Amino acid sequence: MNGNKKSIWITGASSGIGKAAAKEFARVGSNVIVSARRTIELERLNNELAEEKLGVNIFPCNVASAANVDQTHKKIISDGFKIDCLVNNAGITAFKKAEDNSINEIDDIIHTNLMGAIYCIKAVLPVMIENGGGTIINISSVVTKKVFTHSTAYAASKLGLKGYTDSLREEVRKYNIRVIDIVPGATVTAMWSREVRKENAERMLTPEEIANVIVWAYLQKGNLVSEEILLKPMQGDL
Ligand SMILES: NC(=O)c1ccc[n+]([C@@H]2O[C@H](COP(=O)([O-])OP(=O)(O)OC[C@H]3O[C@@H](n4cnc5c(N)ncnc54)[C@H](OP(=O)(O)O)[C@@H]3O)[C@@H](O)[C@H]2O)c1
Repeated sequence: MNGNKKSIWITGASSGIGKAAAKEFARVGSNVIVSARRTIELERLNNELAEEKLGVNIFPCNVASAANVDQTHKKIISDGFKIDCLVNNAGITAFKKAEDNSINEIDDIIHTNLMGAIYCIKAVLPVMIENGGGTIINISSVVTKKVFTHSTAYAASKLGLKGYTDSLREEVRKYNIRVIDIVPGATVTAMWSREVRKENAERMLTPEEIANVIVWAYLQKGNLVSEEILLKPMQGDL
């Protein structure tokens, strides 16, 4: 670990968009800290990057647990990392009608997508303020722009996060902290069933396309902030 290098903390980096973003940040020379529940997948990511003579720093974390986020953040700091950017990417859904969603499923979605992101923001915020700035990137969703069925809990979590971060953005401008919402449309990841992916892969975005935009948004310096970036497949929503 290079303590002087700015570090990027990505949650949900064991697959999909988070994994692609971790690779892309590593390729542009960032110190990358990766979290998710499946340590074995984070190790696989590290092994894949080793083929490019690159690597990541693994800190397993369940973002749905406030205590686990706090412990993980303390460990990251005590290992000497200086977090310059948090990418709140960890997320889950359940494509079900409201009446079929169990309370447990709804709890999981809200605690991962909304509270998980808030726990991570609360952890890094005092340090970013002390460091004189930073970047918080949330992976939002097109559900914040358009109404979809079979997405009630997911929409509540993402719209809740949008409300939280829109308000936060105005509070933290004065600390030189940028808050960026990346708003992807349908992307080919494990979030979708095998059948949907097989049938629609051609008209969906790829995790690598989203990752390139995340890294691009982070690298913009000076006075420009891309506060919200909507990314859609050419053929429109699924
Ligand atoms: N795919 C799309 O069409 C799409 C569109 C718009 C927005 N998004 C958003 O993009 C983000 C990434 O999703 P994806 O599409 O890349 O799906 P994915 O491949 O299923 O990735 C989800 C990631 O979140 C992690 N995760 C889930 N629960 C977690 C928890 N409690 N603690 C820590 N990590 C957790 C998973 O890792 P572990 O299971 O190892 O914990 C995994 O790495 C999500 O926020 C999603 O809402 C996706």
